[in-house]
Amino acid sequence: MVSNRKRSIIMPPQPFVAAAHINDPMVYQQDAVDFWAARAAELSWTTPPKQTLSGEMPNCTWFSGGTLNASYNCLDRHLKTHRKNKAAIIFEGEHGDTRVYTYKDLHREVCRFANVLKQMGANRSEYITIFMPMIPDTVIAMLACARLGVPHNVIFGGFSAQALLERINDAGSKILITCDGAYRKGRIFPVIENVNQALESENTIETVIIVDRIKGEPPLVYGRDHLYRSLRSNVAFDCPPVDVKAEDPLFLLYVSGPDGAPKGVLHSTGGYLTGVGATHKYVFDIEEDDVYWCTADVGWISGHSYGVYGPLLNGATIFMYEGAPDYPDKTRCWKLIENHGITIMYTTPTLIRSFIKWGEEFPQKHDLSSLRLLGSVGEPISSDSWLWFYDVVGKGLCPIVDTWWQTETGMIMLTTLPAVSPMKPGSTGKPFPGTMLEIFDEKGKTVTEGQGVLTITQPWPSMPLGLLHDDGGLYEKTYWKRWKNRTAYYTGDGARIDKDGYIWVGGRIDDVLNISGHRLGISEVENCLTKHEAVAEAACVGIPHDIKGQVLVAFIVLKDGYFATRSLIETLRSLVAEKIGAIAQISEVIFTAELPKTQTGKTVRRLLQAVAEGKDDVGDLSILANPGALDSLRQFLPRSL
Ligand code: WTA
Repeated sequence: MVSNRKRSIIMPPQPFVAAAHINDPMVYQQDAVDFWAARAAELSWTTPPKQTLSGEMPNCTWFSGGTLNASYNCLDRHLKTHRKNKAAIIFEGEHGDTRVYTYKDLHREVCRFANVLKQMGANRSEYITIFMPMIPDTVIAMLACARLGVPHNVIFGGFSAQALLERINDAGSKILITCDGAYRKGRIFPVIENVNQALESENTIETVIIVDRIKGEPPLVYGRDHLYRSLRSNVAFDCPPVDVKAEDPLFLLYVSGPDGAPKGVLHSTGGYLTGVGATHKYVFDIEEDDVYWCTADVGWISGHSYGVYGPLLNGATIFMYEGAPDYPDKTRCWKLIENHGITIMYTTPTLIRSFIKWGEEFPQKHDLSSLRLLGSVGEPISSDSWLWFYDVVGKGLCPIVDTWWQTETGMIMLTTLPAVSPMKPGSTGKPFPGTMLEIFDEKGKTVTEGQGVLTITQPWPSMPLGLLHDDGGLYEKTYWKRWKNRTAYYTGDGARIDKDGYIWVGGRIDDVLNISGHRLGISEVENCLTKHEAVAEAACVGIPHDIKGQVLVAFIVLKDGYFATRSLIETLRSLVAEKIGAIAQISEVIFTAELPKTQTGKTVRRLLQAVAEGKDDVGDLSILANPGALDSLRQFLPRSL
C-alpha cells in the first residue's frame, strides 16, 4: 500500500476517462460568455435570450430578453424523448418503503399540485413557503411553484418553529406547504406540530396545504388548513407552464450571510438553470443510465441545485432517501447503494467522517461496484478522509469531485472536472470553465501562490439577483464592496492557491460557522443567548471537531445577581436549539467576568477562539482595552469537548 503522504496527486482512473462526456482540457480555454451562451442554448426557451450578459458586476443581467419555464425544462421536454418512461425519482423511506416516479408520472403530479396551488390563489408576486422532509412530494411542490412562475421558499425541515415563523414572516408568505410528519431515526418527526406551534404567533399565512406522509389525521384549522390528498383528487392532470423572464426569481432561500444574520437570497430562473444544468452535467459526468444520489437535504442549496434542478434538467434519475444514514444500522447507506444500483454519490465531509468512525466493515459488507463517481461538498475535506472515501468506497476506480460553492453562488464554482484534471486530495481544484475565482490579499491584490481570501472576479450565470427586502444596498455592501479598488465578490472563505493553480479552501473567515456542513450565523446564536434574562453579553466561536467539522462554544457574561449553574447551561442550550433548530447545539458554555474587547468595544473573537481551543499562545494582546479579561477566561481551560 502506498503511504497517503505520497498520494498527493491522483490521476483520474483510465476507464473512467475513456468513457466520459468531457475529457478534453480545451474546455477551459473557451471564452466565458460564449461558453455560457452555448450552455444556455441547451435549455428550452420560449423566447431565446437577446443578449448573454449585460451590465457591470454586481449589476449584471444574464440572458435578457429570454423567457422560459423551469418546470417545463425539468419535465415536459423530456416527455418528447425516450426519457418519458425513465425513472425521474427513486425514493426510499426510512422504513424501506419505495416509490418510483417516471418523468411522465412526475409531470402529472407536478401539474396536479400546480392546479391546487392555482385554486388556493397562488400569486406570482408572493413566495410560497415549503416546510417538508426528504420525500418526493417536496420536489413536486417546488416544481409546481416553478410551473406557475411563483418563487418557492424552502425552509429546512430541521429548523425550529421559531426559525420557521421568522422566515415565513420575512418572506410574507400566504401559502405554506407542509406535511403531517416524517420518519427520522426510527421515530415520527412531528412536522405539523412544529408548523402549528409556529403559526400560534402572528404570521402572514392564510392557507396551509398538508401532504400525507405518515397517514396521520392532523387536527385542521378550519378555513386555513387543507389536506392535499383531498385537493388533489379534484384537479386536472395538466397545467400549462407559465412563461417567465430569465431574470425572474425561481426561488428564495434563507442563509446566514457573512455578517451572521439570516438573509433571503434570491436566485433567477434563466441564469440559475443554465449554471446548475451545465455544472451538474460536466462535474458529475451525467450519463443516461446513472442513478444519482445527492445526500443533502432539499432544504439547503445543495438539495435545490444538485438534488432537484440540476439532475432533472439533465433528465437524470434521482435517488432520494428520507431518513438517517445509520438507521436501523450503520450499513444503511451502503445497502441503498447496492439495492438501487446507485452510480454517483454526492455527500458531505461530515458524513464521510462518520463513515470512517463507524468503520470499514460496513461498506465492505456490500457490493458497491455500481458506483463510478463520488462527490463532496459543504466544508473542507481532509486528505485522509478524501483518501478513505476514494479507497474504501470508490475502490480506487471512482474519481472524487470536491466541489466548492455557496447558497449565493447557486452553482459549483471550484472543482476538478472528473475526466480532465488530476485530483489533489483536500483541494477543491480550479474554477469551473466560464468562471474566474482568485485569491486576494487584504488589499485586494491577486495572490498567485499563497494564502488569502477566495474571491469571484468574473460574473457567473447563477449569481444571485440580490437579497430580499434590500433597500439599503446590503447585498452590494456585504458581498461586493470589500475592496476599494476592485469590484469583486467576497466569499467569506479563506483559501490558498498552490503553484499549479489548485485552490485549497480553509474555511470561513467571517461571522459564519460551518457545523456538519451547515451554515450557522454567529450573531443569530448570540442574539438568542442575550435574550435570556441572566445574560449580559454573549460571544460564540466555532472550534474544530472530529466529526462535525466545528462545534459551538459560547462565552457568557452574566448580569449581576445571576449565577453560573448547571441548569442555566441547560436552559441556554435549549433556548438556542428551540430558537434555531437542532443544528445549533452548543457544546460548551463558558462563563466569564468579561469579554476581551478593543478600545472601540468590539469583542476580540480571535482571542476567544484561541482560548476555546486551549492554545497557550493567543497572539497579540496590545489591541485589548481590558487585558485582564483573558485571565478570567483562562481559569476555565483547557477542557475537552
Ligand atoms: C463551505 C453549500 C470547503 C464554505 C454548497 C462556503 C466548502 C460554505 C466547500 C457555503 C468545499 C462549501 N470545501 N468548504 N468543497 N463547499 N464549503 O451556502 O465555507 O450552505 O462558503 O453552500 O460552505 O455553504 P452553503
